[in-house]
Amino acid sequence: MEKIIWDESFSVGIQEIDEQHKELVRMINKLIGREDISVDSETISDILNEMTQYAGYHFQTEEQYMIEYDYPDYLSHKKQHTEFKKKTVAFCLDTMSYKETIPKEILTYLKTWLVHHILKVDMKYKSFFKEKGLR
Ligand code: FEO
Repeated sequence: MEKIIWDESFSVGIQEIDEQHKELVRMINKLIGREDISVDSETISDILNEMTQYAGYHFQTEEQYMIEYDYPDYLSHKKQHTEFKKKTVAFCLDTMSYKETIPKEILTYLKTWLVHHILKVDMKYKSFFKEKGLR
């Protein structure tokens, strides 16, 4: 699977958020890099767990800004974050039963979700926060 390549089209115009997104991309790329490598289920679970925790931290940052600036789509955005968190926690539990490689459907889900979420969902707040003076 091709790794995610970060470019300026991913930028939401807020440095702190961009850095967090880059870290999430780095984590997913790390999983993609191990796609064909035989690793034990504990290692897979550890990487996934680390990514899930970082995603939770990132979502919290975004949601705090949304509350602070009264972002109109806060609830629907938060709902997407919650769904992703539920899904990745389930993946973490599932991986304990895998013995060899990271299942493709997990990688596909993580990659597709993150790219779509940043480019289509997060991007909706770009002009809103810009108008509020957030950089
Ligand atoms: Fe960057 Fe809405 O997560």
